Amino acid sequence: MDFRGAHILSVKQFERSDVDRIFEVADTMIPYARREKITKALQGAILGNMFFEPSTRTRVSFGCSFNLMGGQVRETTDVKTSSISKGESLYDTARVISGYSDVIVMRHPQVGSVSEFAKASRVPVINGGDGPNEHPSQALLDLYTIKKELLSNNRQIDGMHIAVIGDLKHGRTVHSLSQVLSLYDNITFKLISPAELKMPAEIVSELKDAGHKVIETEDMEAGLNDIDTVYLTRIQEERFTTKLEADIYRGRFRLNQSIYTRYCQPNTVIMHPLPRDSREEANELDNDLNQHPSLAIFRQTDNGVLVRMALFALVLDVAEKVDDTARDVGWYTQGRF
Ligand code: NCD
Repeated sequence: MDFRGAHILSVKQFERSDVDRIFEVADTMIPYARREKITKALQGAILGNMFFEPSTRTRVSFGCSFNLMGGQVRETTDVKTSSISKGESLYDTARVISGYSDVIVMRHPQVGSVSEFAKASRVPVINGGDGPNEHPSQALLDLYTIKKELLSNNRQIDGMHIAVIGDLKHGRTVHSLSQVLSLYDNITFKLISPAELKMPAEIVSELKDAGHKVIETEDMEAGLNDIDTVYLTRIQEERFTTKLEADIYRGRFRLNQSIYTRYCQPNTVIMHPLPRDSREEANELDNDLNQHPSLAIFRQTDNGVLVRMALFALVLDVAEKVDDTARDVGWYTQGRF
């Protein structure tokens, strides 16, 4: 695809070569994300960071990624303080905000809302999550992480076995991740969820039609057998009518050190998009795995900066210019990476 000026709305718009290009650019961002170098490639540019649903990682990492490239960030984080609460349409908001920004990241609770917004925007729009539908930048950072983690054990994505666990009905990260993995060859998906929270049937059909093996089960222990990667997710409480309904499923599937040792192969990569629900009644990914070398959750969040920098560099067409303005950093930066 031609990235210049493009909206990034769904993983369905990518071919495998597009993903390779994003990862190639992401790798060039490592010295900047690690605070070894500074660039001014986006000096003077403004990101409109519009989050109409709760977010920490996605919002802050998009903002930091833009800052790390020399750009400035304007945030709208609450429906109550935005004109949307006065009945303004997405069309009008998009027309207005795109006049103030060079690129927009948007998260919104409604499926399809970010695409609708993008139609009226005069600048590229990146989907930061549209309700339970999609979360393309998360899928890219997850895939980038999987690729690196597997490579460090001389393995690769093609032919990989992945267990995806939790609320697969409402989890937009697992929708986007499964669909982007579909671009690879011969993946085995073990989809582990309560029967009521299964992966949408259309996505399962797409995976099968693309030649992948899909096993849907409620038996977590059997599902953990013979996998390269385990990807856990939270019960998406905010998508249920009442908290009580979500409570039924909380804590149904949990991974901890003893289950990992008993059922997983050594080196099985452990992933979660975060936030993990660490309340006792849920605790889908136990703190007793925090020091485990295969726990990749904080490498995922670090990699998110690289991938988001790459998306900005590509849609704003500065991927080749980042190093032109590079200089060393002048402050103490040791020990973080
Ligand atoms: C996810 C989301 O918002 O979809 N978080 C994230 O962006 N890393 C997952 C979640 O909230 O469970």
